[in-house]
Amino acid sequence: MHKYMILFIVLSITFYILYIQMKGQSIKKEKEQFQPLSYELADTKADSVLALMTQVEKVAIVEGDRSFFIRPIPRLNLPEVYMTDATQGVHIREKFKDLDLAMYQLEKSTAFPCPILLAATWNSELSYKYAEAVGEECRAGGIGILLGPGVNSYRISQCGRNFEYFGEDPFLRARMVGEYVKGVQSTGTIATLKHFVANNTDYYRRKSNSIIDERTLHEIYLPPFKAGIDAGAQAVMTSYNLLNGEWCGQSEYVINGILKTQLGFRGLVMTDWWSVYDGEKLAKSGQDLEMPYAVALKDVHQLLDEGKIKIEDINRMAKSILRTCFIMKLEDRKKYPSDNILYENHESVALQAAREGIVLLKNEKNILPLQEDKKKILVTGDYVEKIAMGRGSAEVKGYNNRLMLDELKKEFGSRITYVKDPNFDQIKAADVVLCNIGTEDSEGWDRSFALPEDQEKKVGDCVNNNPNTVVIVTSGSGIRMTDWNNKARAILYAWYGGQIGNKALVEIIAGKTNPSGKLPMTIEKEFKDSPGYGYIPEGETLYQGWNGKEEKAHPVYDVRYSEGIFVGYRWYEKKNIEPLYPFGFGLSYTSFEYSDLTIGTNMFQEQGIVKVSFAVKNVGNRRGLETVQLYVQDVESAVPRPLKELKGFTKVDLEPGQSKNVAIELTTKDFSFWDPETKDWFFEKGAFIIQVGSSSKEIKVQKQIEL
Ligand code: BGC
Repeated sequence: MHKYMILFIVLSITFYILYIQMKGQSIKKEKEQFQPLSYELADTKADSVLALMTQVEKVAIVEGDRSFFIRPIPRLNLPEVYMTDATQGVHIREKFKDLDLAMYQLEKSTAFPCPILLAATWNSELSYKYAEAVGEECRAGGIGILLGPGVNSYRISQCGRNFEYFGEDPFLRARMVGEYVKGVQSTGTIATLKHFVANNTDYYRRKSNSIIDERTLHEIYLPPFKAGIDAGAQAVMTSYNLLNGEWCGQSEYVINGILKTQLGFRGLVMTDWWSVYDGEKLAKSGQDLEMPYAVALKDVHQLLDEGKIKIEDINRMAKSILRTCFIMKLEDRKKYPSDNILYENHESVALQAAREGIVLLKNEKNILPLQEDKKKILVTGDYVEKIAMGRGSAEVKGYNNRLMLDELKKEFGSRITYVKDPNFDQIKAADVVLCNIGTEDSEGWDRSFALPEDQEKKVGDCVNNNPNTVVIVTSGSGIRMTDWNNKARAILYAWYGGQIGNKALVEIIAGKTNPSGKLPMTIEKEFKDSPGYGYIPEGETLYQGWNGKEEKAHPVYDVRYSEGIFVGYRWYEKKNIEPLYPFGFGLSYTSFEYSDLTIGTNMFQEQGIVKVSFAVKNVGNRRGLETVQLYVQDVESAVPRPLKELKGFTKVDLEPGQSKNVAIELTTKDFSFWDPETKDWFFEKGAFIIQVGSSSKEIKVQKQIEL
């Protein structure tokens, strides 16, 4: 009997593995067979289809339809194209107003950790895998265009959409976004870089006018767009805000000038939803598609009759849409059968991201991982029995959602006591308190850097009454921790972990996973310390919730980026302001030593390459991942330059005692600045300091070189 039982189990496992492999194979084959059509062939094909189209048909495709569609033209075998959000997995819309979206129903979609957590992994391979999984789910839902990734910059900790973006540093964002785009598009799904450009606050987002100089745009705000374009992104969504006085979605300077001419984008440009106002300007700006339907373009036929818009403008717009769809072969793509989707693999990618993206900010007396002597573990906070997530278009419900409380009970059993609102005695009596506080951020408004009162009170009650309090921060952005940071024994920044993030969180608390996340942004002590402070017009205050009417009535207001290129750590270092936690910071349960920095400059003259190498050693007693960071400083320059600029990073996996050599190549561009006169990157000869370390603050080895 026993023998048969074992045989049965072995056979079941074998069949399961074979089944999974078979499922995987069919998608793998489809993916391998997918080759985009070349730009030139697609262009010719678009010309020939355009020649067959009437004016009405051309107009029909440049105006969005039913909120999320490009219109079909059945007579020409052009199918409708469905697009959906986006930034933390596939947002399934069961219904949209009266729309029947049955055809596009996915049975489920994986709720991934939010992108700022992904950025905190500093693992661009993981960014590819994450995006590939999202793309596969799009294919199963017949989704032609993913309305992501969101690649805007973290300039203001209060921005409601920071959770959808990749942090404050242009180099880190560019690396993560480039791989993201490749991952999504490997599945034949179009990736959309959004929101172009300088869309860094959601405070009356349709009314903010970002005032920025060109050097700052190129050095800080454009690099992730450029990286996405170079990686082949086929779509770009313009933003709600104005840039230097004109709404981005109808700005010739933004679209024809920066996006197409300077960055070389040749794909489909679409507006953000209800973000343009003037059809004439739009048609001339280089914009291709007005979403979600014609508002600025509503009188387009009349404007054509009056000669205010030329048919050539509409031809250009329609052709760009056709060409992009032909490049990605949307006209004859098949859905991936949803049975063949390896949801289990997608969940593993989501789990891996959470394991690598949760950041350990503080760990006094090595309270973490929790040891056996911590018998009475009191758990409290708003996100213990609820999955927190970023809200708005990015929302993803997920499946198999794992609550923190359940995961804790699985790991620690009866040692766990959960009390939503514990009294002082209960807090005092515990050996350790796990207090999960934070914010649920959303598109559409900004939220205060200071925690809501109830959250601040909860964390205060815990740290003031039990010295062994571990604070878990659930948020999509930086929060004010100044009043309790010193009193907390440990702090874990958990972001929004998606459906399986709590498993990773508990693994870290228990020591089964060694944390390796590093902050993709600086956390300031006070909001007034930060470069974006003062962006809200005088006399106004933050609001919460959708407020279309108020937004309509609100005047356009200027957000002056007067700090220029000095954003994030560039700002705090220049101003000598001590942040609470610096960019790139994150602790591990082991420690690392850096040595043997060598820099080879002899290939610079001829090939523009500088070779940097150094050794990293795990000097602790458990395996760990370290993100090594390389910063460049220009010692003397004709223009103001930051004290540090991230120009390289790698994640190294080290066993105890193990040492590895890391090699990073820098190119001329890594030493250059954007010159607004020549409108190009400019390399200025002289001395540079190469700084290598474990965060922007902890430089372990450095050397000066002459180039
Ligand atoms: C958001 C976009 C989103 C679009 C469609 C807008 O409100 O700003 O990011 O893709 O809605 O849902």
